[in-house]
Amino acid sequence: MRAFHRLDDFRQYRQGVGRVAFVPTMGSLHEGHLALARAAREYADTVVASVFVNRLQFGPGEDFDRYPRDLRADGEKLAEAGVDALFAPDEDELYPEPQTCFVDPPDLQHLLEGACRPGHFRGVATVVLKLFNAVQPQAALFGRKDYQQWMLIRLMTRQLALPIEIVGIQTVRAPDGLALSSRNAYLSPAERAEAPRLYRTLSELRVAVLREGVACCAMLEEEARQSLDGRGWKTDYLTVRQRADLQTPSPASRELVILAAARLGATRLIDNLEVE
Ligand code: PAJ
Repeated sequence: MRAFHRLDDFRQYRQGVGRVAFVPTMGSLHEGHLALARAAREYADTVVASVFVNRLQFGPGEDFDRYPRDLRADGEKLAEAGVDALFAPDEDELYPEPQTCFVDPPDLQHLLEGACRPGHFRGVATVVLKLFNAVQPQAALFGRKDYQQWMLIRLMTRQLALPIEIVGIQTVRAPDGLALSSRNAYLSPAERAEAPRLYRTLSELRVAVLREGVACCAMLEEEARQSLDGRGWKTDYLTVRQRADLQTPSPASRELVILAAARLGATRLIDNLEVE
């Protein structure tokens, strides 16, 4: 696997390869990221992954400085997963000057994750467009674990007419159901034992919504939230939404998704589950 830290070097490499499938990441890689890297092979002969912890998408009191970084281990995992090139730009390669030009996504950016993390999706969309410009992929793979991110990237790609197929990959979980996340590394052993409750709560809520119907969503959500908070979680949101626009469902809504973000101690976990 080739590794590049400078944009010019990567661009030179890019000229010599054909179709590219691209997996953008912030590193500290786990099996969720590697599932994207392996799936990428179906979309192009050359697979490129990026590792870049993007300052722009972190809010003031968030974990940019302590976000786990281990580029050497990441490189080994990506090579093993069959990635052809790693693009891990130095910060001043992507941000040689303060970024004052942004991609401003539509109102969907202000719901749920965006309401809890103002400016987050503007930072995500801006860096993803910059990475797309650098990597020039024909396909790019994203995890549905970050459901709202995946929706916004699809929207950006469509509305800015980028010639890139956006592929959404199912969430990879630990055997106990916890969605894999780089932030799971922050959990103490006791918190790690408690953490699967988030997915269990979503699964139970899904069963209840299917049984009781969409009209009961608000009450069922509230019960689910109280059961988490009663066990020491601090729930930012736990809500049933329409898949199409993440708005509150109407009685006629069929395609639903349950989305949640909750803090366990100092660690913020997110997860979601589609309701069939
Ligand atoms: P990061 O959190 O490193 O995630 C990189 C990609 O891996 C995202 O598409 C994310 O949805 C996916 N992913 C993470 N955990 C997963 C899991 N358990 N199962 C399946 N996919 C999973 O998301 C970002 O980085 C950044 O916002 C980025 C898009 C790179 C822009 O900076």
